[in-house]
Amino acid sequence: MLILGIESTCDETGVAVVEDGVKIKSNFIASSVSKLAQYGGIVPEVVARDQVKVIIPLIEKSLNIIGKAKIDAIAISSGPGLIGSLLVGVETAKTLSIAWHKPLIHVNHLKGHIYSNWLTMDSLQLTVKDKMGTPKFPLIALIVSGGHTDLVLMKNHGNFKLLGSTLDDAAGEAFDKVARLLGLGFPGGPEIEKMAKKFKVHSSQSMVKFPRSMINSEDFNFSFSGIKTAVLNTINNKSIKAEGYSSVAFEFQEAVSDVLVTKTINAAKIIGAKSIIVGGGVSANERLRSLLTVHGSQMKIPVFFPPKFLSVDNGAMIAAAAFFENEFADPLKLTADPSLHF
Ligand code: KG4
Ligand code: ZN
Repeated sequence: MLILGIESTCDETGVAVVEDGVKIKSNFIASSVSKLAQYGGIVPEVVARDQVKVIIPLIEKSLNIIGKAKIDAIAISSGPGLIGSLLVGVETAKTLSIAWHKPLIHVNHLKGHIYSNWLTMDSLQLTVKDKMGTPKFPLIALIVSGGHTDLVLMKNHGNFKLLGSTLDDAAGEAFDKVARLLGLGFPGGPEIEKMAKKFKVHSSQSMVKFPRSMINSEDFNFSFSGIKTAVLNTINNKSIKAEGYSSVAFEFQEAVSDVLVTKTINAAKIIGAKSIIVGGGVSANERLRSLLTVHGSQMKIPVFFPPKFLSVDNGAMIAAAAFFENEFADPLKLTADPSLHF
């Protein structure tokens, strides 16, 4: 089954064709990110206007690879996300579904991030994944993006139970806000990661320490707003000069990773998980990847991450989730839902 997946929940527009939920046949992404650097964050109006311009050309590019006649269904992420961005994708998908007489499948964007872990591609050297196979149930999914931090129990395809979420800022949001405090660009995650690499643990730069909020709480919730304030206080304290910011970036990344890894491993232990999977933009972070992989292997639980280009928003993950979820929608009735839940 060939599904055309369309993603436009935030600042990326993704269009992809995926076969049987796993095999990427084409994958195109356009992003407003270079334009957003001047604003230091997402400007919904700017993003949605860009999406109106790029969405049809991206669909045309996809159809040049897999002709329209071969497409079996159209998948669209109908939420959660920014309303202006969502409307561009949802209305386009509805129109195509009616015009082409093809079924429409709606997908929760967060489930898309989960299903990015099932994707493969001929041109991609997925040797590690080939060795690991596909994730086994029951599994724990950690979703870490700009808008969400969720721990989800998945007993099978289509069977999701939300165990916990952030009570305030999302992990990616914390990366973005702290990057701004450190005078770095947007998006903040990759910038902080780069700056943290410059810090040598035994260097003469003073080592700061940030809180690991809720790391020992008995639930599966998170909180990342306190650490942002701690960073601000540290910077305001004159003892940290700009050249010491790499120690701040390093310790911030350590603290956030520590909390994410500890809570994910605890959840995996408690439910007897056979796999851990991670998705969302923050899952591109190499420190998070290595810490979670090490802790998972100590417990003999394989940890799956999507390749980095599929960690961030893309259309392929939407087509994958659509294949496994099969939630058909009436193209005359589907509406975008900015606060769609699991
Ligand atoms: O999943 P995503 O592309 O969009 C949303 O659904 O929000 O995630 C974007 C978030 C941003 O906050 C960005 O700073 C973060 O993912 N991010 C990272 C890295 N790459 C992207 N955070 C930490 N380390 C990275 N390497
Ligand atoms: Zn996302």
